[in-house]
Amino acid sequence: MSFWQHLPRPVIGLAPMDGVTDIAFRHVVATHGRPDVVFTEFTNVHDICQGRQMGWEPLRFTGCQRPVVAQLYGKHPDLFYQAAHVVSELGFDGLDINMGCPSKNVASSGSGAGLIRMPELALEIMAATKRGLHDWANGQTLAEAGLKPAIVERVARFHAAQEHGSPQTDRRALPLSVKTRLGYDSVIIKEWSTCLAQGQPEVISIHGRTLQQLYRGEADWEAIAEAAAQIRQHGVLVFGNGDIGSLNESVARIQASGVDGILIGRAALGNPWIFQGKALIREAVRKHCRQSIPEKRVPLEERFDMILTHARTFERFHDPARFPRMRKHLGWYCSGFPHAAALRAGMVKTNHAQDVERLLEAYVAQHVAPEVEALTA
Ligand SMILES: Cc1cc2nc3c(=O)[nH]c(=O)nc-3n(C[C@H](O)[C@H](O)[C@H](O)COP(=O)(O)O)c2cc1C
Repeated sequence: MSFWQHLPRPVIGLAPMDGVTDIAFRHVVATHGRPDVVFTEFTNVHDICQGRQMGWEPLRFTGCQRPVVAQLYGKHPDLFYQAAHVVSELGFDGLDINMGCPSKNVASSGSGAGLIRMPELALEIMAATKRGLHDWANGQTLAEAGLKPAIVERVARFHAAQEHGSPQTDRRALPLSVKTRLGYDSVIIKEWSTCLAQGQPEVISIHGRTLQQLYRGEADWEAIAEAAAQIRQHGVLVFGNGDIGSLNESVARIQASGVDGILIGRAALGNPWIFQGKALIREAVRKHCRQSIPEKRVPLEERFDMILTHARTFERFHDPARFPRMRKHLGWYCSGFPHAAALRAGMVKTNHAQDVERLLEAYVAQHVAPEVEALTA
């Protein structure tokens, strides 16, 4: 049985987000919110099998993030076959295929959501990936799978540099999952998910929009519910995704759609705490409860601690020159409290965790300390 079968239901997971769910963010979310499962940013199978090491950045993870699923995209079944070996060797818990990315670079070349228009290729890719996962589990080496010596060496080096324990010795075939959208330019999720079910993934995650919608309009949870009812007959788990902004919305969506789990994306930006409510979500769903769950109000001190922890975690895992990629996270934390906009404006200019620390200290000196003094005077 794969880890998916052992997770509590409904499953509450962190959705994959390119440029966001990097090793540092996943680490922070795992240590402060503990979602049931996390996904990496999507990674190109070509970069894995033939590209530069830079393209492997999304594949870094720490042990506390488990279960962690590597999400891949591409359009060549043979590369998925090889990449499945690499993902297995790196010690991931699962492999997810992206069939939902709407970005022009990805979808117009036939990868990501482009696969919705090529169901035969999608099934071929799933079959090749499964073959790769099983061949690896049966003892096939990376070289035997056709990977070049430089890539084989890189896997060993990459693995040794990670903080998630010893190399994979337990050769079990990883479970396959797919993340997709409702359709390309119209909602065809019933036909499309029935097609995907033929590839026998363990999970299909559905973002309730078509490719053409990008992120416009509202996610269509009725379409997700209809697909869930249908796919369940094939023994595949269904996760719903799209526009879940709070614990109460999570409960309402799960109750109304009957999905086996949800993936939360944008609501976790600047809010890794959201996953702390997963037990409350499960309890409300189990008890068919209609009462509202109190949403966590994060005290300013805890928020500031998190900002600094995240910045330092980023520095621990990344080259200092990449700190500007951290700035958007800093901005996301800075809202919903007095003078947040001014602090945000400062955060987007930071280059080190030390800059962040100075800004937070200045905020406290200017806005918090005088208030405390006034109260105690
Ligand atoms: C910045 C950003 C990057 C994303 N990158 C990915 C990705 O790499 N793979 C993927 O399957 N979906 C990706 N998505 C889509 C999300 O996983 C999710 O389906 C979408 O944001 C809807 O969920 P939400 O409303 O909870 O955010 C991305 C979304 C955003 C906002």
